[in-house]
Amino acid sequence: MPASVIVGLQWGDEGKGKTTDFLAEQTTLVVRYQGGDNAGHTVVVGDETVKLQLCPSGVLYPHITSVIGNGVVVNPATLIRELDMLAAKGVDTTRVRVSRSAHVIMPYHVALDRGNETRLADEKVGTTGRGIGPTYGDRAWRLGLRMEDLTDEPILRARIGRALVDKNLILAAMGEPVFEIEPLVEQALAWGRRLAPHLDDTTWLVQDALRRGEHVLLEGAQGTLLDLDHGSYPFVTSSNPVAGGACTGGGIGPLQVDEVIGVMKAYSTRVGAGPFPTELLDETGRGIAERGHEFGTVTGRPRRVGWFDTVPLRYAVAVNSNSAIMLNKLDILSGIETIRMCVAYEIDGRRVDTWPSSGAALSRAIPVYEDFEGWQAPIHDVRALADLPEAARRYVTALEDHAKVPIVLVSVGPERTQTIERAFRPTRRRPAVPA
Ligand code: GDP
Ligand code: IMO
Ligand code: MG
Repeated sequence: MPASVIVGLQWGDEGKGKTTDFLAEQTTLVVRYQGGDNAGHTVVVGDETVKLQLCPSGVLYPHITSVIGNGVVVNPATLIRELDMLAAKGVDTTRVRVSRSAHVIMPYHVALDRGNETRLADEKVGTTGRGIGPTYGDRAWRLGLRMEDLTDEPILRARIGRALVDKNLILAAMGEPVFEIEPLVEQALAWGRRLAPHLDDTTWLVQDALRRGEHVLLEGAQGTLLDLDHGSYPFVTSSNPVAGGACTGGGIGPLQVDEVIGVMKAYSTRVGAGPFPTELLDETGRGIAERGHEFGTVTGRPRRVGWFDTVPLRYAVAVNSNSAIMLNKLDILSGIETIRMCVAYEIDGRRVDTWPSSGAALSRAIPVYEDFEGWQAPIHDVRALADLPEAARRYVTALEDHAKVPIVLVSVGPERTQTIERAFRPTRRRPAVPA
C-alpha cells in the first residue's frame, strides 16, 4: 500500500483535517500537495483543537515527517507562526520539511488579490484574500519566487525586482499602494534564515519513503468543486485539489497512488461566491450552520449551507477515481424531521443528472430532491454502523448508492475517536511505526 490521497469531494471544509489525522497514525509521511494558507484544517484530539493552514494534518504524531510539497504556495509569515504555535504545544517541528520548489506568497500577491476583489465588487470571487491566485499566476507566468530563492540574496533581489515592474504598475492602476524593493528583500531574507533548516528536496523524501515500503498519505486542500479545472470557474481556487494534483504537487506518479479517499460531509457548505444549487436560506439552513459551527476557519466568514448534492458527488468520484469515502458530520443532521438529498437538476425545463460543465447552466439549475426521514437521537457516541438509527443508516446507504464507492468511515463528532470504522481499510494494514 504505497500511497493514499485524501481529497475533498465538495467545496472544501469537508473535514479533511480530521480524516488525515485519523488515517495518519499508520503512516510515516504526510504531504500537503496544493493550496496555501487559504486552507484551514481542524484536528481535535481530546480537549485540544489545532487549526492548520500549511502543515499537513499528521503533524501531531511524533513519528510522522510532515511535508509541504512543491505544489503548495507558502506564505512564510503564516508558516513561521504555525511552526511557533506547534512548538509551543510541544510538537517537534524539525520534522516539517518544505519543498525548495514551493512558490512563495509575497506581500504584493496579497495586495493584488485584495485589490482585485475590491475592483470586482459585486462580481468578486470571495477569495480568502491570501494572495493565492496572484501567486499561482506568477508561477505559471514564470515570474514567481520559490522557497529556495529566500536563501540566495542576489537571486532574490533580481527576482523581486523583475516581479515588481508589473506588480507596481497594476497596483498603482488599482489605486493601491506600491512596494519598495529593499524592505521586501530584507523581509524575505529574514524568512529565509528562519526557514532554511526546513527546506528539502521533498520529491526524494516521498520517493525514498515509498521505496522503503512505507505508507505515504497525501492531503489535499479545498475540494473538487473549487478545482481550477473542474469547479465552477471562475468561482474556484487557483490550484488542483483533485487527486491528480497529488501527483504534480506531491512528487509522485499516478501508478504510485493506490488509494484515493474522498472526504465529504453529510450536507453541503460553500464559502465565497458562485453557484450553489442546494443552498438553504431558511431556518433549517441556519440550524445546520449553527450546530455544525459553519464559519470559515481562515476568514471567519459564515459558510453558506445546503442539502447534500449527489450531482457533483458523482462527478467528483469520477474525476478523482475514488476507492473509498469518509463521510463526516453525520451527527449534525440529528433532529431534522425530513432530510433532503438532491438527486438531479432541472435546467431550462429538462432533467439533468450530470454536473454541467457550463457555469451559466449551473447557475440556472433547480434541484430535484429525494426526501429522507430524519432521526432525532444524538449519535455522537455511536461507534458501530449497526448502532446508528435506521433512518441514518438509510441516508448513508443512499449516499453510497449515488457515489458507487464504499463509505468506509463515518464521523459522528470532531474528535479523533468519534469515528465509525465501517469496513476493513487497507490503510490500516501496515503495523504501527514505532515512535
Ligand atoms: P477541512 O478544511 O476539510 O479540514 O475542514 P475544516 O476543519 O475547515 O471544517 C470541518 C469542521 O468540522 C472542523 O471544525 C472539524 O473539527 C469539524 N468536524 C469534522 N468532522 C466532524 C464530525 O463528524 N462532526 C462534527 N460535529 N464536527 C466535525
Ligand atoms: P479548506 O482546505 C473552503 C474558497 C474561497 C473562495 C475560493 C477562492 O479548509 O477546505 P482563494 O483564496 O483560494 O483564491 O479563494 O475558494 N476557498 C475555500 N473554501 N475551504 C477552503 O479550504 C478554501 N480555500 C479557498 O472562499 O470562494
Ligand atoms: Mg477548512
